[in-house]
Amino acid sequence: MTESGAVLQKSSEAVGTRRGIVVLDFGGQYTQLIARRIREQEVFSAILPCTAGIDEVRKYEPAGLVLSGGPSSVYEKDAPVCDPRMLDLGVPVLGICYGMQWLTYNLGGRVERADRREYGRAQLELERSSALFAGLPGTLKIWNSHGDHVVDLPEGFHVIGRTDNAVAAVENPHRKVFGVEFHPEVQHTDHGAEILRNFIFEICGAEKNWNRAGFIAGTVAAIRRQAEGARAICALSGGVDSAVAAALVARAIGDRLTNVFVDTGLLRWNEFADTLDLLRGRLGLKVIGVDASERFLGKLQGVTDPEKKRKIIGNEFIQVFAEEARKLTQTASGGLPVRFLVQGTLYPDVIESVSVKGPSAVIKSHHNVGGLPADMPFSLIEPLRDLFKDEVRGIGRELGLPEEILVKHPFPGPGLAVRVLGEASRDRLETLRVADAVVVEEIRRAGIYEKVWQAFAVLLPVRSVGVMGDGRTYGDTIAVRVVESIDAMTADWYRLPVDVLERISTRIVNEVPGVNRVVYDISSKPPSTIEWE
Ligand code: XMP
Repeated sequence: MTESGAVLQKSSEAVGTRRGIVVLDFGGQYTQLIARRIREQEVFSAILPCTAGIDEVRKYEPAGLVLSGGPSSVYEKDAPVCDPRMLDLGVPVLGICYGMQWLTYNLGGRVERADRREYGRAQLELERSSALFAGLPGTLKIWNSHGDHVVDLPEGFHVIGRTDNAVAAVENPHRKVFGVEFHPEVQHTDHGAEILRNFIFEICGAEKNWNRAGFIAGTVAAIRRQAEGARAICALSGGVDSAVAAALVARAIGDRLTNVFVDTGLLRWNEFADTLDLLRGRLGLKVIGVDASERFLGKLQGVTDPEKKRKIIGNEFIQVFAEEARKLTQTASGGLPVRFLVQGTLYPDVIESVSVKGPSAVIKSHHNVGGLPADMPFSLIEPLRDLFKDEVRGIGRELGLPEEILVKHPFPGPGLAVRVLGEASRDRLETLRVADAVVVEEIRRAGIYEKVWQAFAVLLPVRSVGVMGDGRTYGDTIAVRVVESIDAMTADWYRLPVDVLERISTRIVNEVPGVNRVVYDISSKPPSTIEWE
């Protein structure tokens, strides 16, 4: 367990996290979605790796267990497994896809390779009633994604329903163990939410114990206990995640939290001053603003390779932050030591199915401050590790954070440097900053800002010929990128109305010196990415 994992466990002792549902992760692409669907029912859910110890699961005093799907076959040599005693905890269990295969195989049933992989939509025909499907029609459209399927059931089990191709739902009502071959958590499954609701409430008897206020109260209490007699620091990025994390910690330990906000010279139009005002004025956070733009821009001089740019910025950020942290620690002589580092890590940042490899697997250090020098003895406080961005926005709203911060589009750590293709010189950054401000202003004016994931400008390393007035120009090109997305793993380009495109284009060419051409990026992710570098 990482130290942050320990923090998570501490917070799980707090109100609202008992008698929820524990999801054991076998590496499925929808594991996060299962947990989220449970929380949407106002029931707490935590995801643990399938390798979690039985005591770790017991700490949550779960009302039920869900075994997630996963890409493996139960017969593979390194197929993920969980402690078989999980099936004897005395709480109901629902195995989904691989989770169903694992539990039937484990209890003495037989699993077999299917003739063909069932992927996508299928029809489920129920052949007997079950508490899991109570109140639902006898035929349901479901979403499948599996290769193997169950052929022989363990003792005490019977089939509840089938698709053309496979046994699709089984149960042992006596033991309250259920399995479904399909994915009730995805929206393409008819009545998926009801199936999960039946499991959570009717079968497990879970109570509604999860809401924003409860999460805040529980987390604040846990942080307060954990950080007793110590101070903490937080690197703010100006975005929603770090702001919400800081606000939570500030609520717990008041001005024993100091925030650091670094101006890298790569921020958007007026972003440094505006964000400082918001955080200090409206939120009352203690924030040290560090203008380090000279340092960053100096180091970036002459560098055009995207990866080099990212590395330079990452390293410089760590140095600036470490210097500020040291200063703070030194001023603590006689006072309280700085022992904690607050990060706004979200669930999608934490794992990409890494957890199935077990607690020893390295969790990718996604954040800018992930690589702090070893002589800085901080433990992590990551109060948002279980949550998705929209859940974080909800928590922020409950905490009273200004809407300007909550609805702000995500912004990459390396800032505008990855949107100025080629060298991120002072001049080119300024060109991009002005163009970007136009894009954002017009997107807001059209009422689109809050509907899309991101909207921004990119300055291309391409010049082209134009004509302005009576003269020939040879100017820069701005690409406009507007995307829709749920979690940034995939994204689609936004169909902007032509009048908005027209206004953006006209304004950029008229208002941004040196730019004579505007193009609109119509690529989706995959195969493109959202950012250009
Ligand atoms: P891509 O370009 O990979 O980006 O499709 C996915 C999402 O992540 C953001 N992004 C970053 N965020 N540090 C961050 O905190 C980074 O280095 C970084 N690079 C990309 C990007 O803006 C998009 O929302």
